[in-house]
Amino acid sequence: MRDHLLARAAAEGPLPFEEFMRAALYGPEGFFAGGVLRSVRSGDFLTSPEVSPLFGETIAAFVRAEAARIGAGTPDVVDAGAGSGSLLRPLLDALGPAGRVWAVDVSPAARASLAERVPEAAVAPALDAVPGGLRGVVVANELLDNLPAALAVRTGEGWDEQRVAAVDGALALVEVPARPEVAAWADAHGGDVPPGGRVEVQLEAGAWVAAALSRLEAGALLVVDYGDTAEGLRPRRAEGTLRTYRAHHFGPDPLLEPGATDITMDVNFSAIAAVASEAGAEVSLHRQDDFLVSLGLDARLSELRHRELDLARSGDTMARLRLRSDLSDGQTLLHPRGLGDFRVLAARV
Ligand SMILES: C[S@@+](CC[C@H](N)C(=O)[O-])C[C@H]1O[C@@H](n2cnc3c(N)ncnc32)[C@H](O)[C@@H]1O
Repeated sequence: MRDHLLARAAAEGPLPFEEFMRAALYGPEGFFAGGVLRSVRSGDFLTSPEVSPLFGETIAAFVRAEAARIGAGTPDVVDAGAGSGSLLRPLLDALGPAGRVWAVDVSPAARASLAERVPEAAVAPALDAVPGGLRGVVVANELLDNLPAALAVRTGEGWDEQRVAAVDGALALVEVPARPEVAAWADAHGGDVPPGGRVEVQLEAGAWVAAALSRLEAGALLVVDYGDTAEGLRPRRAEGTLRTYRAHHFGPDPLLEPGATDITMDVNFSAIAAVASEAGAEVSLHRQDDFLVSLGLDARLSELRHRELDLARSGDTMARLRLRSDLSDGQTLLHPRGLGDFRVLAARV
């Protein structure tokens, strides 16, 4: 993969960062291409639904509320970037009768897991396969942070763009004047960036949000991810938020081992909120902890605590330990400096 990208950059000239990211993550030897399931405990990152089935169960309450709002008896459900099925399975179990169900994931390993674990879902590699006219909810947990982005760097007067070039036999970032659409996005959504500061230009995330909303006749798009508003991301702008992950740890520089690490960034929720508003949606933004508590997760955890006390009295130690572990996993979803600090954007149409 590295050699292929070196040859490509030498032949074509410096590659826009989104082209590099697309090849590194989604190309034939990309991070998501192989037979490895990335979003599981033994994989590269641990997501909310992998931590606890209470995540999917709680999101079912959101789907029910949306179904009631739009008058859909059996709401359609789409999980985009659905991973192993750890969100969709408990969601559908808690929801009861659903309408059409889609599980979308670019990774063949994820699609194999989804076909087995969520047999009632139509499994597809991309959102393009999902038809329009949906009445229900499209959910994307930790998808948008992976969508290819350009990199803009603040200059005195405007913006340069970092591209990936072949320099002395290695991949290196070089700066060239930014393309007009990159500069325009950075002006609109980058916020107050110091000279030399870096902004990930998330044009594809915006296009994805518009495409997802266009499939909804009525209902909501729910985007859950790490990130913040443009203002909230400001303290991180000197360095930018681009990073890699591998086996649950920060990985090396994204240019060093393309294809072997996840490449990700904080989602700029101001930018995607703007796209959703422009598409006519009513947008609200929440912290994950507040959002899940508003849907009843706190009450569910109290119920588990009471059951644990009952088990303590009855002396069933194994069942009590299992419940305690479930309880602790559920509490992890609300950790204020961990998963609870994720953002949830609801865009209702
Ligand atoms: C961080 S994982 C999250 C998986 C799952 N939503 C969860 O919360 O456990 C990101 C998932 O999105 C998938 N993915 C990444 N880019 C995608 C794209 N452009 N379209 C569809 N799926 C994508 C990956 O294969 C991976 O399974």
